[in-house]
Amino acid sequence: MEQNRRIIVTPALPYANGPVHIGHIFEHLICDFFARFQKMRGHESLLICGDDTHGTPIMLKASAKGISPQELIKQVYSDHLSDFQSMGVSYDNYSSTDTQSNQELCEYFYNTLKKQGFTAIKAVEQYYCLHDKMFLPDRYITGTCPKCLSEDQHGDNCEKCGASYQPGEMPQVKCSLCKNAPEKRSSEHLFIKLEGFRDFLENWLKTGTTPQIKNKMAEWLSGDLKDWDISRDEPYFGFAIPDMPGKYFYVWLDAPMGYIASTKEWCAKNGRDLKEFWGKNENTEIYHVVGKDIAYFHCLFWPAVLSASQFKTPTKVIVHGYLNQGGEKMSKSRGIGFGPKDYVKHFDPTYLRYYLACKYNGGVDDVDFTAEDFVARVNSDLIGKITNIASRGATMLAKHFENRLGTLDAEGHAHLNYGVSLGDEIATHFDNFEFAKGMLLIRNIADLANKYFDDYTPWKLVKTDPDKAHIVLTTIVNAFRIIAIYLKPIIPTYTEKVESLLNEPKPYTWNDSKTPIENKNLNTYSHLLGRIEAKELDAMITTNIESKKIALEPKKQNKNDKPETKSATITIDDFTKIDLRVGKIIEAADVPGADKLLQLKIDIGTEVRQVFSGIKSSYQPADVLGKLVVLVANLAPRKMKFGNSEGMILASGEGTEIKLASVSDGAKVGDKIS
Ligand code: 2FM
Ligand code: ZN
Repeated sequence: MEQNRRIIVTPALPYANGPVHIGHIFEHLICDFFARFQKMRGHESLLICGDDTHGTPIMLKASAKGISPQELIKQVYSDHLSDFQSMGVSYDNYSSTDTQSNQELCEYFYNTLKKQGFTAIKAVEQYYCLHDKMFLPDRYITGTCPKCLSEDQHGDNCEKCGASYQPGEMPQVKCSLCKNAPEKRSSEHLFIKLEGFRDFLENWLKTGTTPQIKNKMAEWLSGDLKDWDISRDEPYFGFAIPDMPGKYFYVWLDAPMGYIASTKEWCAKNGRDLKEFWGKNENTEIYHVVGKDIAYFHCLFWPAVLSASQFKTPTKVIVHGYLNQGGEKMSKSRGIGFGPKDYVKHFDPTYLRYYLACKYNGGVDDVDFTAEDFVARVNSDLIGKITNIASRGATMLAKHFENRLGTLDAEGHAHLNYGVSLGDEIATHFDNFEFAKGMLLIRNIADLANKYFDDYTPWKLVKTDPDKAHIVLTTIVNAFRIIAIYLKPIIPTYTEKVESLLNEPKPYTWNDSKTPIENKNLNTYSHLLGRIEAKELDAMITTNIESKKIALEPKKQNKNDKPETKSATITIDDFTKIDLRVGKIIEAADVPGADKLLQLKIDIGTEVRQVFSGIKSSYQPADVLGKLVVLVANLAPRKMKFGNSEGMILASGEGTEIKLASVSDGAKVGDKIS
């Protein structure tokens, strides 16, 4: 038996500037599987998280809503937490980075780094907007690409030609908030000298992450390690740097401190000492599960900062890829996929938990969600292969043996031994975040149980040899029990129903698989879980151009049939949220490589929007230039191959019959339509 371990697992702290998307759910479920699994093995395991709350985007968003940043993050906190909990994620503590104890930690780390000579102050030249009275982070700068001279590109990369650059290299820049030209100003910034951690990092990477990321890190380490800027100028929502008036710690410094501060909050609630978990010399294991976009941060900056203090460095950073649908990153705001709120309206969390565990193997490759695959895994495996063992076995036991288990014979024990013997292997996979490998072995146990059941045909045997039939059914129920035990970290509410059905005196632990149950009464079988309907899934998945790629049952459609798109009703409140504006098309162009799209620049008074619109079959660029159109102005921007589309113009009809929605006589650019 393994010695008891002390384990912390964390997802990345979700940023409080928007709702939880299904990619977050994926990451938090990986952590939830792991934490629950370790608890079942008898280890002390904490799932620690919290909201990441600081920075310019939160400050600006709160100001746009006319509320304080604190009010904004409070609202988002409840929304985030309830979304995660609705998917069955069970945190030991879910905190926020905007706490006093997090501030104290930041100051402690800063002082420690400074004392050891790891900090430096350097002047940085940045764009400053006189209108908005702030230095502009790159994401608030737009301008002309220095390479291909396309206009209206982001401050750090061009969507047209793919070039990466600094805003300072752009021949013309604008503040994306007010569209005025900013000026260059110099300001002092605080840096961490990362190069000073090279030896530590070279050593840490030997064990600190997974093989693919280890290679990536070796690549990063083969070049210069640039100093990391950890300060921002006021105005900023965050923690002030104690000895630098007007300067704040950059959100990316205080965010990971939140891992520690949240653990500290848990310790305070549970009478424990933080040192037991994060102390440098403690035997704790710390796992961070993060997306590939923030691997650099978690594998370089964060371990480096920790190493300079009396805190423990991460045991392993597990880096996962994106959750894609039809090859594109799932994002509700871009209309691809579904959000957790949509999901729980339609389905039990058990299905998605089961499915994602079958798909994730601890690596960095993207995971593709496809509707057919989801329906097949759930209906054929979880229901057809696994749940059916229980429904068939328990129903017969109730019918013929007063719902009482008999005694196993040698052959029954031998059969069960297969499942028991796989317990350690499954545990090793789960312990390595290789959930898909573990799930495959669990399905193998189910396959063997189904074969055993079918070979014995107990529905016939009960007439010719009822004693043997009773043994067979007792064996079958026990085989199912082993499966339910191994599935508990993945689909806990399902297994809780099994615990109740099998009249278990206490919740399962992992090793309960080794002790079969015999000669006891079961509770009446009640439905564990039903099949899912493909059309229910279709109704859930947001209808958009991309999601049609994964429309269900495509084989049943002939060429002339349109896929049935059932549009969900919306309330009048939903409808009034749509911001319709009159805009003028001031530029129109063909999009090379897209035969249905026109690239439009639309002036809506306060700003100019770029929109890619599928109207080319009816309109040439010259036809629409100067036209007034109706723009859905608050549609989330959608990243397309050709660039961002920032809204949608209203039109009706199809093919060569598309007609742009007309605006009333006298309408002016910027008018709101209600
Ligand atoms: O990428 C993000 O969404 C960040 N909010 C993650 C922060 S993780 C850690 F640093 F707290
Ligand atoms: Zn501005």
